[in-house]
Amino acid sequence: MPRKVTLIATSAMGLESIVGKEVKALGYEDIQVENGRVVFEADVSAIPRANLWLRSADRVKLQVGRFKATTFDELFEKTKALPWEAFIDEKGEFPVVGKSVKSKLYSVPDCQSIVKKAIVEKLKMKHGISTWLEETGAFYRVEVAIHKDEALLTLDTSGSGLHKRGYRVGQGEAPLKETLAAALVQVTNWNPDQPFVDPFCGSGTIAIEAALIGQNIAPGFNREFASENWGFISQKVWDEAFQEAEESANYDQALNIVGSDIDPGLIDIAKKNAMEAGLGDLITWKQMQASDFNPKQENGYLVSNPPYGERMGDREEVEEMYRDLGSIMRDHPTWSVYILTSHEGFEKLYGASATKKRKLFNGFIKTDYYQYFGKKLKSKPNNGKGFGF
Ligand SMILES: C[S@@+](CC[C@H](N)C(=O)[O-])C[C@H]1O[C@@H](n2cnc3c(N)ncnc32)[C@H](O)[C@@H]1O
Repeated sequence: MPRKVTLIATSAMGLESIVGKEVKALGYEDIQVENGRVVFEADVSAIPRANLWLRSADRVKLQVGRFKATTFDELFEKTKALPWEAFIDEKGEFPVVGKSVKSKLYSVPDCQSIVKKAIVEKLKMKHGISTWLEETGAFYRVEVAIHKDEALLTLDTSGSGLHKRGYRVGQGEAPLKETLAAALVQVTNWNPDQPFVDPFCGSGTIAIEAALIGQNIAPGFNREFASENWGFISQKVWDEAFQEAEESANYDQALNIVGSDIDPGLIDIAKKNAMEAGLGDLITWKQMQASDFNPKQENGYLVSNPPYGERMGDREEVEEMYRDLGSIMRDHPTWSVYILTSHEGFEKLYGASATKKRKLFNGFIKTDYYQYFGKKLKSKPNNGKGFGF
């Protein structure tokens, strides 16, 4: 078993620094934040831990090699020289996927079949097999990604993307990806003792991710990962990671989280999703017009992904909603407000310039995350436990 591995936590553009902080929070120091990924060195136990805990990353990949390749011969020989036998066992099934950008080796199908052939030869030699490889065992998705003539060869340790937490039993028209929702919450300074509201909650993703963060519940606790069946990671390592997740959860943390939406059908779906996430009735769900929002407490956080008004006919209604929200929140200056929208006129309609803005992609939609910091009340100090990513 290799003692140290190089792992790559992939992420949506704009979320890299948040994923980097999450990786650091897991105790890994040696990290590089690059475009769309965070690379870090760790021992093998980081594979279960990163998969279980990373909230905003898309996947965790294991780097088998990174090298320059401008000819098919070079790709073949350098791939074959890598220690595949340390990772893929005799019966492992290993399809090869690929991509190539700005590189001499641009034919992706050719790159994939060359990489496949090189790994087959190496495994047959190392495992002493003279016929063919059965490929009936554990699943290893190999990726050859070539960028500016540099080939990166990885194994996908996650299986389905990490946004698939296992709790989404239903969704609305435009659900937010769980990884993005977790990032939106982690950008704020909310701590779980403070009120938290999403008045356009849809299927409840932001509120559910906030509850998981608030009680320090590992987001991957309810799902499986491809690497759970890999021979070089012992069952003990997986058991310890799941045990750590169980012991770290703070189920006694009281929460004051409300999700509301105008659509009663979505409130039903949000309730079911929260139930599936194991949150029971920890979150309060309400069918309500956002314009009826009237907070009774101080120092709260409103974090939301309202409609963007991109569809013909929706725009005026959405603009009115933004105006209403601005006028409600002006009467509650201790509340912090965080809004994700693609509507470029948001600040004007809301009636105030954001304290901070962050460019993010919601799928393929270019959005801004408008952040308005609430005024701190001296009598109720923030206890400093906020996440503040
Ligand atoms: C972009 S979706 C939110 C999706 C949500 N983040 C999720 O993950 O499912 C916007 C939501 O705003 C709701 N909505 C539209 N107009 C509203 C209003 N006036 N008051 C409250 N909710 C409204 C819609 O029903 C929809 O669920």
